[in-house]
Amino acid sequence: MDKIVVEKSPALKGRVRVSGSKNAALPILAACLLGTEDIYLDEVPDLEDIRVMCEVLESLGSKVSYPEKGKLIINSGGLKEYKTPFELMNKMRASFLVMGPLLTRLGRTENSLPGGCAIGSRPIDYHLKGFRALGAEIEEDFGNITAHAKKLKGSRVYLDFPSVGATENIMMAAVLAEGETIIENAAKEPEIVDLSNFLRKLGAKVMGAGTSTIRINGVEKLGGARYSIIPDRIEAGTFMVAAAITGGDVLVENVISSHMLPMMAKLEEAGCTLTEDGDSIRVQGVAAPREIEVKTLPYPGFPTDMQAQFTAFMTQCKGSSEVIETVFENRFMHVEELQKMGAEIRIEDRRATVFGPSQLTGATVKASDLRAGAALILAGLIAEGKTTVTAVHHIDRGYDRIEEKLRGLGAKIYRISEED
Ligand code: UD1
Repeated sequence: MDKIVVEKSPALKGRVRVSGSKNAALPILAACLLGTEDIYLDEVPDLEDIRVMCEVLESLGSKVSYPEKGKLIINSGGLKEYKTPFELMNKMRASFLVMGPLLTRLGRTENSLPGGCAIGSRPIDYHLKGFRALGAEIEEDFGNITAHAKKLKGSRVYLDFPSVGATENIMMAAVLAEGETIIENAAKEPEIVDLSNFLRKLGAKVMGAGTSTIRINGVEKLGGARYSIIPDRIEAGTFMVAAAITGGDVLVENVISSHMLPMMAKLEEAGCTLTEDGDSIRVQGVAAPREIEVKTLPYPGFPTDMQAQFTAFMTQCKGSSEVIETVFENRFMHVEELQKMGAEIRIEDRRATVFGPSQLTGATVKASDLRAGAALILAGLIAEGKTTVTAVHHIDRGYDRIEEKLRGLGAKIYRISEED
């Protein structure tokens, strides 16, 4: 398996362009199953998760072509298969997002339970509750889930927690249902708004995305469209922390700054200087950052997907910083790896207290999940000596050429491939 080696690096300097959002692209790709004409997507990030989703679509009968880097053309006019292959479902949790589109378009779908990052139990009960509310019959049998309904019927669905995936899956099921669906306590993440904008371009009637009440009026059929995916706010945040942790000066380009507010606020509280300029944010680090507190919450709160990277940053903040993780119950796996590098962190239940600043030392550490992997790379930038990050396939799922982009800012980082 590949490894990424990071050596202690100088303060990062320069500019870096953020790719399209993984978490916006994945549901949009699933939503391509709903359209019957050509769909042209731009700003598609080059990632393992995206390749898996394209394979899922192809296995279901969609035609996927790659005219050039960052672009995809998808046609699901010939969609016929309602069953997703186990190997693909098992690779990635987001593959479950095809369930809503298949159910509503073909009247039937059969899937195994999804795989993905090991960050706590990630049930799908809200997704299923939504499908049931729309009239689907669901059978669960040893990790296999079958849902069917001749024609879904619009209904009111209340989510007990504003789940991103459940909101997306129910929205996609509802666009071809009969009548009106109202999703209450819906997730408000920018990726939900992006999916809604995309669905509207295909001809769907979706209102209220970005608020906690989304109204969908079902239509008979969806067509094609050209659509450009929003920038990845988590990739952008990761580069912002890379600038901050090294005390550097980096211009992060292709960002929507209103999506970045919690990350920007926390870096400013630590003493960094942030300057917005159009679709760029300049981050200037500070020699001795102050302690900060971060509590993960659904959007517009602080994103759980930035928690690990900020934990790495906190090892360089003076005093005792705190992280409270409220979204996932098992998302501190990076802590043990940071401790191997010399970080002083205490965990109590869902709270981690980070005592800093600590002089970190390079070690061999494991990327237990995607964002944990990013946090270890960030720690490696300031650790004495060499840090070797293993299980890099997790990082490749969600970061488009991370070593190349960091190297462009002056980082000493390289990959050792399996074959080397
Ligand atoms: C999405 C993101 C992921 C991010 C997460 C939270 C994608 C592809 N992934 O994941 O990167 O970390 O949002 O911002 O967009 N839950 C249930 N039952 C359900 C669904 C969720 O109990 O049916 C719980 C989960 O266990 C978790 C919480 O709700 O504790 C949030 O999960 P959710 O918002 O659904 O995350 P994902 O959509 O899986």
